[in-house]
Amino acid sequence: MALESSCDETSAAVVEMGEKRKILSNIVASQIALHALYGGVVPEIAGRAHIEAISSITYRALSEAGVKLSEINLIAVTSNPGLIGALLVGVNFAKSLASANGIPLVSVQHIRGHIAANYLEYSELEPPFLSLVVSGGHTSIVEVNSYTDIETIGRTRDDAMGEAFDKVARVMGIPYPGGAEMDRLARLGNPEAIKFPSAAILGDNLDFSFSGLKTHVINYLHGMSQKGAEYSKEDVAASFTKAVTTSVKKKLDIALSRKKYSTLVLAGGVSANSHLREALLEYCEKNGMRFCVPPLSLCGDNAAMIAAQGYYEYLSGKRADSSLNASPIG
Ligand code: KG4
Ligand code: ZN
Repeated sequence: MALESSCDETSAAVVEMGEKRKILSNIVASQIALHALYGGVVPEIAGRAHIEAISSITYRALSEAGVKLSEINLIAVTSNPGLIGALLVGVNFAKSLASANGIPLVSVQHIRGHIAANYLEYSELEPPFLSLVVSGGHTSIVEVNSYTDIETIGRTRDDAMGEAFDKVARVMGIPYPGGAEMDRLARLGNPEAIKFPSAAILGDNLDFSFSGLKTHVINYLHGMSQKGAEYSKEDVAASFTKAVTTSVKKKLDIALSRKKYSTLVLAGGVSANSHLREALLEYCEKNGMRFCVPPLSLCGDNAAMIAAQGYYEYLSGKRADSSLNASPIG
């Protein structure tokens, strides 16, 4: 069983791992409606909403899976990174549940969890592979050498990819989180309409900067409004998305020039983006690589992915005890 409460989703899941990889239940309670009012996640509100929901979500996950707590062999919980007040709710609840019932406990790093969502979709997927993790809080190029030997080789130096989608959307009046709506709008627009700068940092590195791209788009929108000119949200969304996908391909080219990988695994909330999925599928076909991406239900934060990674962390010998703490970083 796993618990996830790092940001604005309270989630509990029961998963069967081993020979088979099977999700028995994966309950996700989204707090989006609570935060949309403020245009972003309010940490204080997130923590309080988690504490209200976590107990009932956990018991719903057990009942939907048709499993008793006494049949659970391992409890996994997201311990970092994330909003500290949000993480502490899951960590404390998982510690109590594990200790009161004599169940082993293991902590899971959230980004590793996102990658592991793919193990649930592709039953035969095994490391090594290259992974791109893109979410509201993270943008990383990661070398997955084994299930638990995972090295970040590229990262954003400022905003995360999802954050940039959400902020551009917000300036166009789209409610938080605007990523999914940007995806829909981009399908109706012309990706060549506006030339936006790259989010790929110049030079022989695997890093991104989404802040410059975001500011450029926002300046464009403000400039148009000040001139009283109309702009097309569809064209902005399509051109912004094109700048993002082009930047990603540029960095993947550099990663592949350094080392050959047979598989690319996309993960994280922004892996739901249909344009990014299409662009990377095409990229992989061109480069003779296999492309893996989770189904939409496993792209965003959920506990099933934490359970999947927790299983491998446990197999590698990792254990958590009553001193387990949460951390906003790492
Ligand atoms: O993984 P996630 O649920 O939370 C974090 O760990 O951050 O990712 C949420 C992010 C938000 O920024 C949201 O706007 C973005 O994923 N997102 C999308 C799409 N669906 C969700 N961004 C672009 N296109 C989408 N279809
Ligand atoms: Zn996430």
